Amino acid sequence: MKFSIVFLGGTGDLAWRKLMPAMFEAYRHGAFPEMGRVLASARENMDTASYRQWLWDKFQTLTWGEPLEKAVFDAFAQAVEYKPLDLSSPDTYQQLSDWIHADPSESVVFYLATAPSLFIRVCEGLAAAGLNKPHMRVVLEKPLGKDLQTAREINHAVSQHFSEKQIFRIDHYLGKQSVQNLMALRFGNTIFEPVWRRESISHVQITLSEDLGVEARGAYYEQAGALRDMVQNHLLQLLCIVAMEPPASDDADAIRDEKLKVLRCLRPIAPHEMNQLVVRGQYRAGVIGTQAVPAYVDEKNVAPDSRTETFVAIRAEIDNWRWAGVPFFLRTGKRMPQRGAEIVINFRPVPHPIFAMPLANATNRLVIRLQPEDTIEMHLLSKASNRSKAEQGRLVPVRLDLDFREAFGKQMIEGYERLLRKVIAGRLDLFVRFDEQEAAWKWVAPIQQSWACDPMPPRPYSAGSWGPAAASTLTARENFSWPEDQ
Ligand code: BG6
Repeated sequence: MKFSIVFLGGTGDLAWRKLMPAMFEAYRHGAFPEMGRVLASARENMDTASYRQWLWDKFQTLTWGEPLEKAVFDAFAQAVEYKPLDLSSPDTYQQLSDWIHADPSESVVFYLATAPSLFIRVCEGLAAAGLNKPHMRVVLEKPLGKDLQTAREINHAVSQHFSEKQIFRIDHYLGKQSVQNLMALRFGNTIFEPVWRRESISHVQITLSEDLGVEARGAYYEQAGALRDMVQNHLLQLLCIVAMEPPASDDADAIRDEKLKVLRCLRPIAPHEMNQLVVRGQYRAGVIGTQAVPAYVDEKNVAPDSRTETFVAIRAEIDNWRWAGVPFFLRTGKRMPQRGAEIVINFRPVPHPIFAMPLANATNRLVIRLQPEDTIEMHLLSKASNRSKAEQGRLVPVRLDLDFREAFGKQMIEGYERLLRKVIAGRLDLFVRFDEQEAAWKWVAPIQQSWACDPMPPRPYSAGSWGPAAASTLTARENFSWPEDQ
């Protein structure tokens, strides 16, 4: 198959940290089309040979599952070409077209790893140069817009030139192995479906925590904040996968229709509930591990009086038959004690306990961990079998563990590689449709509006902590607690 993927923004962080490594992995795992080309473009003035060398230097700074071999890289690099282009100039697109020089039947993917402010201009430019034929696709990186209005504008403008089937909106969390596992667990097994509902589940917690701060991305983050950066997309997509009804098939629209229904059932948070149901925080200086780290406001390109949130916790509810009354606690933050992503499904306690319980809130829990490892743990309560007097006759929590890296070894596919393989194959099931995205923006809009006129700044929390104390109050109000407090 003749195939070209064109990375616009080919020298950016995303390109060398995630996209090119993913293409390289696809190549070395035999998933890259034999006649495929990887074309990269950015403003930086260099030729293909220098780009390949630059990429090799960057690759060496990354951590790899399998050793990075120069000979394999060189073979891959044969497919890589570079051309400097300025996407803001209208003449560029004809040059781009001449450079690609695609065969009439060639599949061409344009990956827009550029500033989102360029999305509309780039799509117009591609169309003007005839680069929007039916076998051509565009991949749009987040953030897509900064609110409902701007997301709609972008979606509308892009849809003037590309049909929805040609548009791949990336949410890289959908490419993670554990998200695949969660879908398989729910829809490939019968045992969970009868208990996957309000009658058996008391509450759900989803935490995406990062130990890193904003690094070199202060300028971007000041505009984004945790709500736009993580909640509107990654957290809500995970919530959808947990809460959706079984789709009729694995067809992209069958899956996306079900996710959309969840988003539409999310109860809007009313202005008077905001303080009760939403917590926003910003990190102060603190210590992570043994390292002292600065406050958010002391990071590069961050205003000293910034009110951008680096932490959000929300109590959400889904108004439908399956989930009515079940709280979904969502939380994400930078500069937390560790990097992790996990979904905890908390089951209800037994209706009539006949055994002495070890802890007041010991119940069955299903923990789906996306990072740092891909694991699924089932927490069961079991009769203690040791002789210790204190434990005799009591129930103790034990875990059934499934470690996917152990089960599938290093053959596991990483998130961006999985998504890029889907792009190559033209499969849209792991990409976000415009209406899903708009529904997610619609749900966060009242939170954005309330913060915009809130005289109170975000609550402070020390770097290295689990966020402001108010986040614990959010769960404690209902006698629940976050996993680290259990
Ligand atoms: C990105 C956000 O979408 O996701 C970043 O813009 C964040 O701020 C990153 O660090 C987290 O992704 P992961 O895969 O490392 O959890």
